[in-house]
Amino acid sequence: MEQQEVITLLSSRELEKMRRVGRLAAELLDYLEPLVQPGVSTQALNDAAEEWTQARGAVSAPLGYKGSVIDFPRSICTSVNEVICHGIPSPDQILRDGDIINIDVTPILDGYHGDTSRTFFVGTPSPLARKLVEVTEEAMWRGIRAVKPGARIGDIGAAIQDYAEAHGFSVVRDFVGHGVHRIFHTAPQIPHYGTAGKGKKLRKGMVFTIEPMINVGTYEAEILADGWTALTADRKLSAQFEHTVAVTDDGVEVLTLAEAKVRA
Ligand code: MF3
Ligand code: CO
Ligand code: CO
Repeated sequence: MEQQEVITLLSSRELEKMRRVGRLAAELLDYLEPLVQPGVSTQALNDAAEEWTQARGAVSAPLGYKGSVIDFPRSICTSVNEVICHGIPSPDQILRDGDIINIDVTPILDGYHGDTSRTFFVGTPSPLARKLVEVTEEAMWRGIRAVKPGARIGDIGAAIQDYAEAHGFSVVRDFVGHGVHRIFHTAPQIPHYGTAGKGKKLRKGMVFTIEPMINVGTYEAEILADGWTALTADRKLSAQFEHTVAVTDDGVEVLTLAEAKVRA
């Protein structure tokens, strides 16, 4: 992914635009959640998302997003079971009871991107799938709670990695969180593993995602010939949650919440 060197600090006017699109992104996931049922295709979820997004005057950033083999051909990412991220919705992919599916959405509104994802259960999960998804969500929150001015990027990854590995899971290395504002993927990179006290200092006005991908087995990933679909090398389960966050005066604001709420 393209990376600039300089980390942009957003003005309060820009942050207000990030809040608006972040809220929209969260509401899109809220809208999609009840559609996640056995028998539904990932294409149907994609089409519902595209229609909802257009009806709100927004644009789906993933659609046509530049790739190395092909540009991303759909409006959302749907990553089922052993797919780590960047799963491509398809009419041939029908959800089954016991699956887990990460839905990752990124609407653009007034030029700004809101990037968020959650992993949902299709019907009833296995005990292992439930544990993986719960640990992954809590790992994300631990990463978010490490964010404040003066903290370092390594503090985020360390908090996530410590928690995930304490539960016997592994942290994906090949995909990281990223700066996001007018640009979809930019500086800084936010690894979901690392060492507390290391890395660049966080400053008020920085905006980036925290999006840990946590695996039951190896953290190693493989990419399919489509250039997008990333799956676990051992084909065991992977889960992910993602929020877009801003560094505030004294902590962190989560921008991708349906009800705008500040978490610290
Ligand atoms: N939303 C994904 C992320 O969290 C990126 C998807 S790029 C796409 O960074 F082209 F696959 F949509
Ligand atoms: Co995303
Ligand atoms: Co992201």
